[in-house]
Amino acid sequence: MFFRKSSPTQPLNSLPCTTKSQSFSKTKETHQWVKFTLFITLCLFLLYFMYPTTITTTTTTTDTTTTTTCDGSTPSFYIYNLPPRFNLDLLKNCENLNIYTNMCPHVKNNGLGQPLSKTSWYTTHQLLAEMIFHARLENHVCRTWDPNQAILFYIPFYGGLHASSMFREANHTLRDSLAVDLIDHVLSLPWWNRHNGKDHFISLGRTAWDFMRSSSGSDFGANILLNLPPVKNMSVLTIERQPWEGENQNGIPYPSYFHPKTKEEMLTWQNKMRQNDRPFLFSFIGGKRKGLGKAKIRDELFKQCNESSLCKLVDCGGGNSKCHQPMEVLSVMMESRFCLQAPGDSFTRRSTFDSILAGCIPVFFSPHTAYSQYHWYLPKYKNMYSVYIEEGGVGEKSNMIEEVLMGIKGVEVEKMREVVIGLIPRVSYAHPNGSDVGFNDAVDVALQGLFFFGYTSRTC
Ligand SMILES: *[C@@H]1O[C@H](CO)[C@@H](O)[C@H](O)[C@H]1NC(C)=O
Ligand SMILES: *[C@@H]1O[C@H](CO)[C@@H](O)[C@H](O)[C@H]1NC(C)=O
Ligand SMILES: *[C@@H]1O[C@H](CO)[C@@H](O)[C@H](O)[C@H]1NC(C)=O
Ligand SMILES: *[C@@H]1O[C@H](CO)[C@@H](O)[C@H](O)[C@H]1NC(C)=O
Repeated sequence: MFFRKSSPTQPLNSLPCTTKSQSFSKTKETHQWVKFTLFITLCLFLLYFMYPTTITTTTTTTDTTTTTTCDGSTPSFYIYNLPPRFNLDLLKNCENLNIYTNMCPHVKNNGLGQPLSKTSWYTTHQLLAEMIFHARLENHVCRTWDPNQAILFYIPFYGGLHASSMFREANHTLRDSLAVDLIDHVLSLPWWNRHNGKDHFISLGRTAWDFMRSSSGSDFGANILLNLPPVKNMSVLTIERQPWEGENQNGIPYPSYFHPKTKEEMLTWQNKMRQNDRPFLFSFIGGKRKGLGKAKIRDELFKQCNESSLCKLVDCGGGNSKCHQPMEVLSVMMESRFCLQAPGDSFTRRSTFDSILAGCIPVFFSPHTAYSQYHWYLPKYKNMYSVYIEEGGVGEKSNMIEEVLMGIKGVEVEKMREVVIGLIPRVSYAHPNGSDVGFNDAVDVALQGLFFFGYTSRTC
């Protein structure tokens, strides 16, 4: 079923690293030029990963890269024109896409949700990265309508919305059918064979776990999309990787609330975060959980925060409406120097990205909340932008979190905060209709990551 034969009807292009056939530009000169630009970009990229401080701190104020033309720093890509059953038709049923919530208000405005009173701010639902990604790619300057010119192929499937609508479907054949249908469809297209799908990618707004049902293990509603053999050849962008089996999975940021159209808006926000007063040493926004393994730590964080005069606690238990109001959440983070990031139902949290947006240094208790997830987005050296407290150590001594955080010198805190503020552009999703964004946002970083570090690079 998955290995349906298809024969390419047109000469298919190669990736730039397979030197012998023609590359993604037409004339010899531009070919050379593009190659050169890509080479330079690759060097800069590698430099960034080796010395993230220098680049991060300089990009905060002097990043003048413009996205008005596709300048070679970002690969060109083709968007498959999928039958609407794989994306837009799903939205027609928005009342029933999520068993807990009516998604209709959230899927508005290309997935940004309802606008807030401030320009460029939206009540964005945390699980809609797949829609925002799609909208942003549709207007991206590096989009090409000619598959011959494309380096990457994007499959615009709203897999997360579909998965959450089927969590309670007991019949596995039915639950998996759209995923199976999708892969059948993609394999029938000639472009798959160019690199056995290794230049193809999807982006999912839910965690990888929701697409990795296995025959062993308990059934919590997942489908089998990411376990289908052809999908292992593709790159999968997801808000949470499966840290052990997800080698073709790459973490992308949860969407937060700020979706600027211009670089100026971004710079203004970054400056505001630099100048904000931060009276609280740390804060914790969250509810207690009932003794579940990985969420047990929450009770301890809750207790320690409540007992510390330097911590601001926002109790999200009992349906506290403040926890669902973007500006309430953000204002607490904006007044804090450190923000505790406890694992919740899964390892990762949207709150990590809210905290970066607020210039609040994240404190992690599991390596899988961020370090094993977002390689393209966060500096390699975790101490530059975050604090890690071993989960087992928390609570061994009362007030341990307070002590650890008090022990970090003021100048160190300033330095870390500057790195965090420098990350804001790359973890933000720019407004999809912004034509001249002027900074590299989460989508640009993903495209560059796919090209330089994703499966594409491994076809060389
Ligand atoms: C972007 O523009 C299109 C066409 O004008 C519009 O339908 C869409 O709602 C806009 N998106 C946002 C997020 O404003
Ligand atoms: C599950 O759904 C499939 C496809 O609709 C159907 O053929 C099959 O009989 C169903 N299985 C059960 C156990 O109901
Ligand atoms: C996946 O890639 C391998 C080579 O790495 C290839 O042999 C296989 O046929 C590919 N699968 C599909 C479905 O294209
Ligand atoms: C915080 O601690 C105080 C004093 O120990 C206690 O009375 C209060 O209920 C705690 N607050 C929460 C939200 O647990």
